[in-house]
Amino acid sequence: MYSTTRPLGLTPILTVNDLHAEVRRPKIGFQPALAGLSLDLARGEALGLVGESGCGKSLALRTILGLHNRNEVVQTRGEVYYDGHRLDSHELSTLRGKYIGFIPQDPQTALNPVMTVGDQVSETVRHHRKWTWGASWNHAVHLLAQVGLVRPGAIARTYPHQLSGGQRQRILIAIALAGEPEVLLADEPTTALDVTIQAQIVGLLHRLCRDHAMGLIFVSHDISLVSQLCTRVSVVYAGRIVESGHTTNVLAHPQHPYTQALIASLPDHTSAGQRLPHLMGQTPSLGEWPEGCAFRTRCPRAQSQCLTVPSTESLDSSEPHTVQCHFPGQAAGLKNHHA
Ligand SMILES: Nc1ncnc2c1ncn2[C@@H]1O[C@H](COP(=O)(O)OP(=O)(O)OP(=O)(O)O)[C@@H](O)[C@H]1O
Ligand SMILES: [Mg+2]
Repeated sequence: MYSTTRPLGLTPILTVNDLHAEVRRPKIGFQPALAGLSLDLARGEALGLVGESGCGKSLALRTILGLHNRNEVVQTRGEVYYDGHRLDSHELSTLRGKYIGFIPQDPQTALNPVMTVGDQVSETVRHHRKWTWGASWNHAVHLLAQVGLVRPGAIARTYPHQLSGGQRQRILIAIALAGEPEVLLADEPTTALDVTIQAQIVGLLHRLCRDHAMGLIFVSHDISLVSQLCTRVSVVYAGRIVESGHTTNVLAHPQHPYTQALIASLPDHTSAGQRLPHLMGQTPSLGEWPEGCAFRTRCPRAQSQCLTVPSTESLDSSEPHTVQCHFPGQAAGLKNHHA
């Protein structure tokens, strides 16, 4: 795979600053879906993005890439820096694929139904590396083997509809890795995979970060998987990052009531036979975000101050642990409702 090991630099390879997105909804108009999301990613670092369904994880990745779905009308603002250099949409389109790889969430619709998967992977290899058809095809088969597909030569000659959801998901990972990206944005890349294959993919991503300094943003609902792979985690709620820090630190000492509730609902945190606590209320729909802190209507600590948006504060200067809450602190006072 990657031919060189790149030196770790101090400048983040990717910086996202105050990203906003409004999506157009039929008969309603534009509604905010990302509300000032900021993050940075160092070379070689794996950053996990977690949060309930609908909080904006996928939209954040698509907005960073300037890559929206067909029929998706989105107004965006904010800054994206690659290796310290602010990108405009033209530069983004030249970096996409080659330097910034993307694994979309939906493996059903992301592949071309009328091309063999081998042609789709090898075309991406040829596009980025200018290799001959034969060399590109051989490399495509190698990539299919790397993502854990058995009999990769035969798989390469099949069409997407002949494969299972888990196999298609791995084809998308192979396509994203074909350009040897320096940054990979992976949107729930292992959800359709059984645990053995999942471990294989996580191992592959870990090696790419460690040995080739690839920066990874890994979106997942599986916090235990995030804790295995990601050194840092950011928790998203209603289009904002509400808490961020070293994964071990955030999981052991969560400060935002939303993070605490998310962690309390993990199976590890309840005894066998006990029902899992679930978070009171639901993620507010677009257009129904409460004014101020969007979590306040579900939060046991909410006070009148929470009618204003809290700023993002650093908890400890020695640890990069930040929280966006007027009343951060340990879990005391958090009420989870039992299902
Ligand atoms: N094209 C669109 N048109 C209208 N609303 C959209 C569009 N894309 C996303 N949304 C809305 O924006 C919000 C964020 O969606 P997004 O898919 O990013 O969530 P997510 O965190 O990735 O959820 P999941 O964990 O289920 O994948 C949701 O409320 C969603 O309905
Ligand atoms: Mg998503």
